[in-house]
Amino acid sequence: MSPFNEDGKVWMNGKFVSWKEANIHVASHVIHYGSCLFEGFRAYETSKGTAIFRLHSHTRRLYNSCKMYRMEIPYTQEEFNKAVIETIKANKLKACYIRPIVYRGYGTLGVDPFPNPIDCAILVWEWGQYLGEEALENGVDVRISSWQRMAPNTFPALAKSGANYMNSQLIKMEALKDGYVEGIALNVRGHISEGSGENIFIVRDGKILTPPLSSSILPGITRDTVFKLAEDVGISVLEQTIPREMLYIADEVFFTGSAAEITPIRSVDRISIGEGKRGPITKKIQDEYFAYIGGEKEDKYNWLTPI
Ligand SMILES: Cc1ncc(COP(=O)(O)O)c(C=O)c1O
Repeated sequence: MSPFNEDGKVWMNGKFVSWKEANIHVASHVIHYGSCLFEGFRAYETSKGTAIFRLHSHTRRLYNSCKMYRMEIPYTQEEFNKAVIETIKANKLKACYIRPIVYRGYGTLGVDPFPNPIDCAILVWEWGQYLGEEALENGVDVRISSWQRMAPNTFPALAKSGANYMNSQLIKMEALKDGYVEGIALNVRGHISEGSGENIFIVRDGKILTPPLSSSILPGITRDTVFKLAEDVGISVLEQTIPREMLYIADEVFFTGSAAEITPIRSVDRISIGEGKRGPITKKIQDEYFAYIGGEKEDKYNWLTPI
């Protein structure tokens, strides 16, 4: 069964088209060379109605990703935000995953991307727990990937580009084939980088550590959310280079991401983390996160955009 609502609507270049007609030509530049930048985030059903979590931050990151690849989006960020809201309304969804994408379309097929149009689309669909139904409570088993994250000055890690996800797919496939839920990649220096679609945090002696942006990671919006929520409850988060073996002796480890939310990790390479289950600090951060996205806390950071 398709995970999508195939009776729904897609926003394409400023117009709504039916899901089934939201097609592009096989000669589009993006298909051959991975020339696209995208976003992934969620709208939640809160106690005060549907609200998009961190819409402005995600739109800003999309525009930044496009800037790195010399792509000018033919809409202002405000217009783009409005289009996201309209797409959710047009699909009559109370909670959903949101996937805006900006891509080099149909024109020529040289590597030179400039002759091609810059096309935009926004898709929405209902998407449950990314790493499995029980992951949020019980945690997941992961491995260190034999694939590294891209080296500096190869593919920009700070851009959320489609091409970067070829690397993510290698990490994910290897993990799944070996019986794990996810892989954690190291960077070219052998330091911890990130999961195939998540940032990573380590808890040790009551402090929370996470790799810095220079460790070839995506600047996660959930990562930024955790910085603020942890601070709110009096726990400091330190960005620092982390050696692989620190994972094995951590008290707690968790993933963050718009799709994965806050997912505990209970083992790495079959070595139990802490007591082999979700730890108290991970639970505390999860509680803060879910209370915030559920609208149960005051929206003091203006992270919720009502629909
Ligand atoms: C490679 C990678 N790292 C980190 C993240 C987490 O980013 P965010 O919290 O903005 O969803 C993602 C999520 O899309 C990702 O794909």
